[in-house]
Amino acid sequence: MALIRIRGLSTIFGPRPKEALQQVRAGVDKAALLARGHTLALHDIDLDIRAGEIFVIMGLSGSGKSTLVRHINRLIDPTAGSVSIDGEDVLAMRPDELIALRRRRLAMVFQGFGLLAHLSVLDNVAFGLELRGVARAERQERARHWIERVALQGFEQHRPSQLSGGMRQRVGLARALCSDTDIILMDEAFSALDPLIRSQLQGELLTLQAELGRTVVFITHDLDEALRLGDRVAILRDGRLAQVGTPGEVLMAPADEQVAAFVRDVNRARALTIDAARVPWPADAPPPPPERAVDADLSIEQVLPMLVGRRTPLALRRGGTIVGQVSMDAVRDLLAQQD
Ligand SMILES: Nc1ncnc2c1ncn2[C@@H]1O[C@H](COP(=O)(O)OP(=O)(O)OP(=O)(O)O)[C@@H](O)[C@H]1O
Ligand SMILES: [Mg+2]
Repeated sequence: MALIRIRGLSTIFGPRPKEALQQVRAGVDKAALLARGHTLALHDIDLDIRAGEIFVIMGLSGSGKSTLVRHINRLIDPTAGSVSIDGEDVLAMRPDELIALRRRRLAMVFQGFGLLAHLSVLDNVAFGLELRGVARAERQERARHWIERVALQGFEQHRPSQLSGGMRQRVGLARALCSDTDIILMDEAFSALDPLIRSQLQGELLTLQAELGRTVVFITHDLDEALRLGDRVAILRDGRLAQVGTPGEVLMAPADEQVAAFVRDVNRARALTIDAARVPWPADAPPPPPERAVDADLSIEQVLPMLVGRRTPLALRRGGTIVGQVSMDAVRDLLAQQD
């Protein structure tokens, strides 16, 4: 079952959103609605986010990403539709229930860091636990653990203003992780960083996630970031969902011409796992020796050096099981579909 379930969600900004929604349902488009003083931010969104996945929401600026994620912790109310977490209707919650939900289950990492300027790094990271009433010694101990995990040890007593942008972003990440919530919402959390630091933090997030298995809703307008991080990716366009799928599905079977144009320039060898080129292991063949098998979840780029110049296919393994095989020809065909 989905952990976060969104149904029929529509959000319109302006003085008379309900009326405007009727007009949208009668066929008025976004531009015409804007001329009448209303912004159609989201329209008819159905989405299921599963426990333990990194779910990426991507789209161009203004496509509705931040608006969508703010419905999950109900920073805004929709014009129509429903949001539930673990079967509980978020829109029906009383203020005290909503506060409890935000403190215990939802942490948010903002693009602008959202750190408290007058608090030290240590107190910023421990802040979520403080709100929850965890005693000082315990929350500081837990905060130190996460500060170490994001490689900021030694900076515990610094103020945010004494840190670089990348370091502040790490504090934001440590704070979200330290809050010990099962859901983490990240709105363009890495977008302000330079490419090298950004790539490092993406790697750290993937490593931490493999260990922690939180549910992460990650917003980005960067396709490479979306494909690297996402177990699944939703593409928003003008407030509507253009496609939801695994990175492989979005690349190999774009839902329409616009998504296809969007993904055309992606480096497929890097974005796709070798599994995308898999064919069955012949039923009558004996199992391969261990040195002829590679992990099916490696990227094509990682496996290519092992494939080049080979005459026999490589076996693919997942866990301890042989799941199929790949040949250089199959990989070449797959990459050729790009043009
Ligand atoms: N509080 C608001 N009042 C009026 N319009 C709003 C408000 N918040 C968002 N919008 C409008 O809703 C649309 C979606 O905005 P949103 O912030 O969700 O986009 P986004 O995809 O997060 O963009 P970006 O990548 O630039 O952050 C935009 O047209 C925006 O102008
Ligand atoms: Mg935004």
